[in-house]
Amino acid sequence: MRIAIGSDHGGYELKEYIKSYLATKSVDVVDFGTTSNDPVDYPDYGKKIGLAVTEEDFDFGIVICGTGIGISISANKVKGVRAALVYDEFTARLAKEHNNANIIALGGRTTSNEEAIKILDAYMNATFELRHQKRLNKINEIEENE
Ligand code: RB5
Repeated sequence: MRIAIGSDHGGYELKEYIKSYLATKSVDVVDFGTTSNDPVDYPDYGKKIGLAVTEEDFDFGIVICGTGIGISISANKVKGVRAALVYDEFTARLAKEHNNANIIALGGRTTSNEEAIKILDAYMNATFELRHQKRLNKINEIEENE
């Protein structure tokens, strides 16, 4: 499994924590930054992870900013991205089962390290339910009609 991860400064600490957790699992994690608590702009990182997930060989992406809001909005501007801002195990599971989210977004200032790991596990252990594909097709149609 290959995972792309990125954050702004508001998500930096949580990104590092998640990376240390994923290092204990047999997954390949590619970190697209940021690399410190110094202020950066979340759209740059939402775009990077969006492009990585849609154009490269990643199973999914993780984006993190202070709230998860700005970076999820940004990632969702990349064609083919379905970024879901998830804030508990339930929304994480349904983001996969119903929405087949290819990116999950977290808030470094809203979600604790421990909760983030539960959220990540809930997403990773879930399976997309094909009965929802027709709705994803409608999302694709919105993009095609732009
Ligand atoms: C940065 O201060 C903050 O605005 C950003 O991390 C995020 O919360 C935006 O949605």
